[in-house]
Parts: sequence; C-alpha cells; structure tokens
Amino acid sequence: MTDTNPSFWVVIPAAGVGSRMRADRPKQYLPLNGRCLIEHTLDCFLGQPGLLGLVVCLSADDAWWPQLACAADPRITRADGGRERADSVLNGLQALIAQGANEQDWVLVHDAARPNLAQSDLQTLLATLQDDPVGGLLAVPVRDTLKLAGPDGRVSATPDRSLFWQAYTPQMFRLGALRDALGNALAAGATITDEASAMEWAGQAPRLVEGRADNIKVTRPEDLEFLRRR
Ligand code: CTP
Ligand code: MG
Repeated sequence: MTDTNPSFWVVIPAAGVGSRMRADRPKQYLPLNGRCLIEHTLDCFLGQPGLLGLVVCLSADDAWWPQLACAADPRITRADGGRERADSVLNGLQALIAQGANEQDWVLVHDAARPNLAQSDLQTLLATLQDDPVGGLLAVPVRDTLKLAGPDGRVSATPDRSLFWQAYTPQMFRLGALRDALGNALAAGATITDEASAMEWAGQAPRLVEGRADNIKVTRPEDLEFLRRR
C-alpha cells in the first residue's frame, strides 16, 4: 500500500423522487443543519485530495439543483437520471468517459441521500482498495439477530448473523469494468440494486470494507430526524 490515496472520479445518483420520505420535494433537497442533504454529501468528496471530478445524475425536471451554489462548481458536471438508480449511475459513468476519463480510473458511486459519510471512512475505502484487482464497498456487519419471515408473518428461521453485512456507499470500482457490468446486467434484465451486485453478476467478488454504521441513507422521515438530532 502506498502513502497517498489514488485519484478517483465520483458519481452521485440524485434523480430519485424520495417517495418513502413523503416530503414536498425529493429528499436530497431537504434541509439538514442549514444546508440541504446533497450539499453535505458533495462536501465529503470536494474536500478530498485526489478528486478528479464529480458527476451528479439529475432528473430532467429538477428545479432545485440550479439554485444551489455548488451547481456552479467547475469540478461538478451533470448527467441525466434514468428510470432506476442503476440507469442513473450508468448515465453518469458514460458522461465521465465522454469527458475523457480513463477506463482504468477508479470511480466511487455514492447516494445523494447519504449525507453523513465520514472523511475517515472515505480515506479507509480509498487506501484499502487502491491495489485491489476488483474494488469493493463500504459495508457494516449486521448487528441485530436476523429472522427469516415465513409467508404467515411468523419466524421461520434464525440465520447465522456473522455471515451478513449491510451494503453502504461509496462503492469503488474501475470505471470501464463497472460501466460494462452495469450495462450488460441491465440489458439482460438482471435485478441490480447497487454497483457491487452488477460486478457480482459479472463474476467478480467485491471486497467488503468495514465502515461506520452512521453513514445511513435517508430513506424514511425518522432517518432525517435522527441526523437532525445529532
Ligand atoms: N436515484 C437515482 N435515480 C433513480 C432512483 C434513485 O439517481 N431512478 C438515487 C436517489 O436520488 C438516491 C439514491 O439513488 O440518492 C438511492 O435511492 P433511494 O434511496 O431509493 O432514493 P429514491 O428513489 O429517491 O427514494 P424512494 O425509493 O423512496 O422513492
Ligand atoms: Mg428508490
């Protein structure tokens, strides 16, 4: 492992509507400590040495983004969102390649709605994976006992918790490999919920890098209440 972290690109999928938040706007534009979620999210990366550029994937009718100061940051470009998160990410990767990014470069994909990424976790991810042949993701070992639900809503089994991790972001892969994996998986109609699952579909085994449990994705109103109370 070398002393300095590698250079990297970032893709931020931010084209969702946030239906589970039931708010008056997409959740990435809801306020948290005086700024909106996506501004906190972008800050995690904009302060990191080695950042080559960042692309934000946005819906065509997004009226909130142009009002943010960061929309004018020369390091940030925009790409179109897609129907599902994976479509948005693929558009972002293609936009980076069109800008001249190298297919061998590292790219980190991170949810716009995950505003509490610690700088230390980002550095750990970059340092751990910089020489890895595949790449990987921040993840957290499951803490609670797991229950498998039966069709009657009763417990049918208690699986071995030690084998399970929760997948977080950023997820870090080589740009060309991730673009191919996502593109091929989507074309085949595979169910792709994160970048790692596309790489798995392509036959790779992404590395799990343990991160902080408070790098939560704001999904439901109580998630944002939790972050506001901190
Ligand atoms: N996302 C995206 N393009 C989509 C769907 C989601 O870029 N077609 C982004 C969201 O903006 C979010 C991230 O992917 O930053 C994670 O998705 P999720 O938490 O599911 O957000 P939403 O889809 O907005 O929320 P919901 O599923 O509750 O509608
Ligand atoms: Mg969604």
